[in-house]
Amino acid sequence: MAKIFVTRRIPENGLELLRQAGHEVVVSEKNDVLTRDELLEALKATSYDAVLCLLTDKINAEVLEIAPSVKIFANYAVGFDNIDVPALKGKEVFATNTPGGSSNSVAEHAMTLALTVAKRAVEADQFIRDGKYVSWAPFLLMGKELQGKTLGIIGLGRIGSRMAEIAQKGFGMKVIYSDIVRNGAMEESAGIHFHPVLETLLQEADCISLHVPLNNTTRHLMNKERLNQMKPEAILVNTSRGPVIDEAALVEILKNKKIFGAGLDVFENEPQLAPGLAELDNVVLTPHIASATHAARDDMSRAVAMNIIAALSGQTPPNALS
Ligand code: GLV
Ligand code: GLV
Repeated sequence: MAKIFVTRRIPENGLELLRQAGHEVVVSEKNDVLTRDELLEALKATSYDAVLCLLTDKINAEVLEIAPSVKIFANYAVGFDNIDVPALKGKEVFATNTPGGSSNSVAEHAMTLALTVAKRAVEADQFIRDGKYVSWAPFLLMGKELQGKTLGIIGLGRIGSRMAEIAQKGFGMKVIYSDIVRNGAMEESAGIHFHPVLETLLQEADCISLHVPLNNTTRHLMNKERLNQMKPEAILVNTSRGPVIDEAALVEILKNKKIFGAGLDVFENEPQLAPGLAELDNVVLTPHIASATHAARDDMSRAVAMNIIAALSGQTPPNALS
């Protein structure tokens, strides 16, 4: 029987799979993010065979050293920028993520943000709650439509592909994309156009949605210069990772109304926001909830469990990152 540490309570279905496989599951009693010290203490106090961790847990060389018995750090997330994957090199330890099951939820959330910005739904809701609605008016809270517009997807992986499909089939949008790898199948089957140079995508798209992982090449991908290359009426959506955008530069762009607006589910220094961001009308903010549906989270729970079960039985886990 192996001993598994779960850094914060997640949906039961995956934990149940782990117990059924004969393992002991120890869920952190603090239903909150563990501080660095708490995480290190917990791993020091007991020899665990596996750790089920969250995107809020930083897994690096220090953690690996403190927990030499751990055979797998299984991330309950698609993104894995919280794990220093190169630090695992040469060590008999796996790191895994949970791609796939949350793609639809995240893509629907990205579309929600695009629409909410386009139709100014949050601003309109606040307008009514503030008691400002006195009559129908010809020019009240004028928004934008997506039909016939161009969606620029940066990162055409599982989530980006689902977003492309929703935009094309549901809204009649033209879709263009840029990525480090070409998705020939998608280009052919869905008529999506590849832009090898990001700048031309930025200049053409009416709505831009970010679906890249965070790494050294994507950190501040949307810097001041690139933000300034967007169309004056463009909408920027981010459901990937906050640091992909230079958030302070985005605040300036939004303040000066250089683009129509932005919809953000992730932030550069979560849970903190760049100064001035929350005061702006032309941005919609959600607290990193793009995958927060029972369907997605249950699937992630199942996937994280399957990775752990595989690693503990001496196999390579299905979503091994190294
Ligand atoms: C959430 O952000 C995830 O990476 O799954
Ligand atoms: C990346 O893993 C994605 O699902 O787009």
